[in-house]
This record gives sequence, C-alpha cells and structure tokens, in this order.
Amino acid sequence: MRRPFIAGNWKMNTTRAEASALAEAIAAAGPGAGADVAVCVPFPHLADVERALQHSRVRLGAQDVYWEESGAFTGEVSVPMLADYCSLVVIGHSERRQYFGETDETVLRKLKAVLASSLDPIVCIGESLEQRKANQTGEVLARQVANGLAGVDLSERITVAYEPIWAIGTGETATPEIAQETCAFVRAELKKHAGDAADAIRIQYGGSVNADNARELLSQPDIDGALVGGASLKAAQFLQIVEAAKP
Ligand code: PGA
Repeated sequence: MRRPFIAGNWKMNTTRAEASALAEAIAAAGPGAGADVAVCVPFPHLADVERALQHSRVRLGAQDVYWEESGAFTGEVSVPMLADYCSLVVIGHSERRQYFGETDETVLRKLKAVLASSLDPIVCIGESLEQRKANQTGEVLARQVANGLAGVDLSERITVAYEPIWAIGTGETATPEIAQETCAFVRAELKKHAGDAADAIRIQYGGSVNADNARELLSQPDIDGALVGGASLKAAQFLQIVEAAKP
C-alpha cells in the first residue's frame, strides 16, 4: 500500500516573511496523519521554513540541486548543503528543463548524487502539448524514465511526479482518466527497469491540482499523490488537497 504524498512546490514565490507565515499556517493545522506532506521552498527560505516546521510532520524540500559536492560552480547549491536543512529535493522539473537547459542526462547525474545522500528525490517527467497532440506521450515518458531514472537502483525513496507540461499553471488539468492512464503507463515503464520494486514507487500527478479537482485525481489507483504549484501558496487550499488525499 503506497501512502499518499502531497508536496507543495512554491517555485520562485514568497518573500521571507510570506514563506514563514505560509509554513507556520500549514504546520499549525497539523497535517500528516493520513498522508505524507512536504513543501519545496526557495533556497533562501530553507532555514526559516525549517524552523517553522520543526514540531510538525511536514517535510521540507528544495526545488533543485547540483551534483558536485563543492567547488567553483557559482550560483549552484550542493547535496550536502541541502542535507543540512531538508530531506527532499525536486529534480528535473519541466521549468528547469524548459528554461535552464536540463536534460535527462543532468537529471540522472543529480539523481545519483541525491541517492548517495540522506535526501529523497522527487523526479519530474511529462510531455508537452505538441508531443501529446502528435501521439508521442508514451515515447517521451518512456525515454525520460529510461534515460533519467533507470541508471539507478529504483526504490521507494524515489517519488516520480508525472506533470504534463500543458497542465502546469494553465488551469487545464488532465482529466482523472488521462492522468490515471498515463501514471499507469509510467509505472509499467518503471517496472521494465525495476521489476516489482516499481509497485512501491509513488507517482504523483502534477498540473493545476487544486482543492476542487484533487479528490477525483487522488482516488485513481496509480496516482499516489500530487505535486502542487499555485494552489500550494495558499495554506487553506493546500490543506484541503492534503485532506483529499486521505484514503
Ligand atoms: P501548478 O504547478 O500546480 O501551478 O500547475 C505544478 C508544478 O509545476 O509542480
């Protein structure tokens, strides 16, 4: 039985004060009984949010990481630096792939570095609108799994976030049927590489998840949680999504 996992991805949002207030509001509600809950916050807010969450079950994550441990890599943040603050990190978000040149190869390098540490990864995959229209969704996802994930020992420490790019921040959610069908496809691809271990890997759906559509999406058998962008910036909305994840 895979425990539901709801993670907020704050992206490049929140001032220092807003980040603390948001984390405090989430922690005050005491979520985490029926589902794993996490927030992935901007680097500068890690310390404040860590403090705000310290007596809660909410896990703290970052949104990216570099694979080298230290050295002349101006602007980058390493795995050991993050491990001092948090226990999770998002890798290969489509915005990183789209705007910052990330590829399946860089995703794999980051994944290897993260798995060698105490951090757990959330690895993002997903197809663009053009790819879906051209019936290339399966091919794209199979390639992202094979090239970005399959070079490691796939275990339950890894969460895979399936996020169709056309549904991110657009208000256009995949229907529960499409989301389920695609997450089942992703699990089958993971099985090709990991065998039955893939049954323990949680697959989140991401893309315009909100308090209204969460319950139906999260009730699908192959959707084990959500990676939530916009709706994770309002504590009440985010907490409603967490509630909707309870089995
Ligand atoms: P969204 O973002 O919920 O705002 O669509 C999801 C994500 O990019 O993780």
